[in-house]
Amino acid sequence: MNRESFPSPRLPREVAALQDKRLAIIGAGVIGRILIQRLRAAGLRNNQIMVCDADPQRGARVQRELGVKVCPLTDACCRADIWLISTPPKAVIPTLETLSPRLGEGQIVISFAAGVSMARLEEIIPEPVAVARIMPNALSLIGRGVNPVAYGRDCTLDGRVQVQALLNTLGDSIVIEDDQMDWAVGLTGASMRWLLPVLEGMTQAGVDAGLSPTDARWVAAKMMAGVAALALETDMSFEEMKALTSVNTADEKAIARIFREAAHRARELAASLGE
Ligand SMILES: NC(=O)c1ccc[n+]([C@@H]2O[C@H](COP(=O)([O-])OP(=O)(O)OC[C@H]3O[C@@H](n4cnc5c(N)ncnc54)[C@H](OP(=O)(O)O)[C@@H]3O)[C@@H](O)[C@H]2O)c1
Repeated sequence: MNRESFPSPRLPREVAALQDKRLAIIGAGVIGRILIQRLRAAGLRNNQIMVCDADPQRGARVQRELGVKVCPLTDACCRADIWLISTPPKAVIPTLETLSPRLGEGQIVISFAAGVSMARLEEIIPEPVAVARIMPNALSLIGRGVNPVAYGRDCTLDGRVQVQALLNTLGDSIVIEDDQMDWAVGLTGASMRWLLPVLEGMTQAGVDAGLSPTDARWVAAKMMAGVAALALETDMSFEEMKALTSVNTADEKAIARIFREAAHRARELAASLGE
């Protein structure tokens, strides 16, 4: 495994490889909107970004609110260099079946879907189109996402540089093998779902003790960020870090089980999609 991280994840980083590219975002839900916002924040022009969504009303809202052009799938694919597939998993293969006859050399398809393997994508996408999978998460909204990426067949150095430029707009990235993607769903996907309630509970406890909601949220969030910094910025073992406090309340094995179950659900999703 090869970690590619950068010192200042909040700033738009090196995106030069995308400067003359046109990107089509297929699916303008949570992840599609984050992609649009991060690409715009990194300096891409609205006319470089095309968006397609199954829901015309959602498409119109995205065009109105974010200023990008929303168009039918077949219009976008004729002119895009990079396709970002952010539809729900079950729509990925039908979407690619429509697009594939129009794809050619020099283009890149990036799937953000859980449960749709690289092997399945490569069955549909013709050679020599480059393929990559990114497992996104909502922290990319502020450029602080952790985005595991797997590269497929035909992803040349030039293609990887373009994918990395996209990743740079989203936060940090880590290169993994495709068969490790379920782990990525478990760890990065489930993190928000499990850490946010802890943050909310800590905030509520502060409020119950008499702090203002703003102060309680600040203290709770700073503590969480500080614990993360302890893990990132030192090489202390977990035992050494835990020894800094006198009370140990959580059952680490139970917490590990929660994240393993999230990875297991990703495998079940893949099975339900016929993988
Ligand atoms: N959200 C996360 O944190 C997260 C984390 C990891 C992975 N992912 C992956 O990212 C992908 C997108 O997730 P999301 O949370 O953004 O989902 P979402 O909010 O449901 O957005 C998906 C969008 O795609 C549209 N769509 C469906 N079929 C389409 C088609 N054939 N062509 C064009 N647009 C189509 C949907 O429209 P309708 O609503 O009308 O169907 C919806 O607007 C999923 O594959 C998911 O596995 C998401």
